[in-house]
Amino acid sequence: MVTPVVIEDLSKVYHADREDLAVRAVDRISFRVEERESVAIIGPSGCGKSSLLNILGCLDRPTSGAYLLSGRDVRDLDDDELARLRNQHIGFVFQSFNLLPRMTAEENVELPLLYVSTKNSRDKAREALARVGLAERAHHLPTELSGGQKQRVAIARALVTHPSILLCDEPTGALDSKTGREVLDLLLSLNAEGTTLIMVTHDMAIARALGRAIRMKDGHIVADGRPSVVVTETREPEQETC
Ligand SMILES: Nc1ncnc2c1ncn2[C@@H]1O[C@H](COP(=O)(O)OP(=O)(O)O)[C@@H](O)[C@H]1O
Ligand SMILES: [Mg+2]
Repeated sequence: MVTPVVIEDLSKVYHADREDLAVRAVDRISFRVEERESVAIIGPSGCGKSSLLNILGCLDRPTSGAYLLSGRDVRDLDDDELARLRNQHIGFVFQSFNLLPRMTAEENVELPLLYVSTKNSRDKAREALARVGLAERAHHLPTELSGGQKQRVAIARALVTHPSILLCDEPTGALDSKTGREVLDLLLSLNAEGTTLIMVTHDMAIARALGRAIRMKDGHIVADGRPSVVVTETREPEQETC
């Protein structure tokens, strides 16, 4: 089996060409994530979590260092190849759902398939909605859904391409704690079925429910291991603001 994620000495510097503006958002980090792992990425606001996740999701490229996604070095790929690799391997879930407001749930879920002209895309969208328990809401618009239902539609949209890795940036950040727990349980059940899960979270209860936690600070990894160790070893507030 190919290791899904291998990061070596990776950095992301914004405005790298302007010394006065340069921000080292991710600073020479290395780690790997094995198949079926569930990993929380935690740390204070501004420490580089989203920058790292965007690189893992091929939405952005590292300034230096290596990222091997499922054995492919992203440095070797042009933008089209990178987009193809992303479509093949990555599902992305955001805090703010990012659903298109004029499209129904099933149209939103179908969207990623339209880029790759898949057959029976509507049926596949319905299957994905059924998988997140929302088959009966297929024709609803996002405004007709609760926050938790919207996030489940977004998860169905991430799943519809059968990604090997699900990347989540604060997926429960806009939800109350009970709904957040339901969304977490859904993500954990997808992980149990084989999807590798990498999740940025400020919620330490959620970090503790995953198999591993990586703590970042100022662009560095300062702890990596079992959540019971990583989450409790520093005294930061349980809920950090975004
Ligand atoms: N597009 C950007 N241009 C310049 N600086 C950025 C950009 N995105 C993020 N940053 C900076 O990079 C650092 C890390 O940001 P981010 O990855 O969003 O952190 P986190 O997700 O942990 O809050 C911050 O100092 C932020 O201001
Ligand atoms: Mg962030």
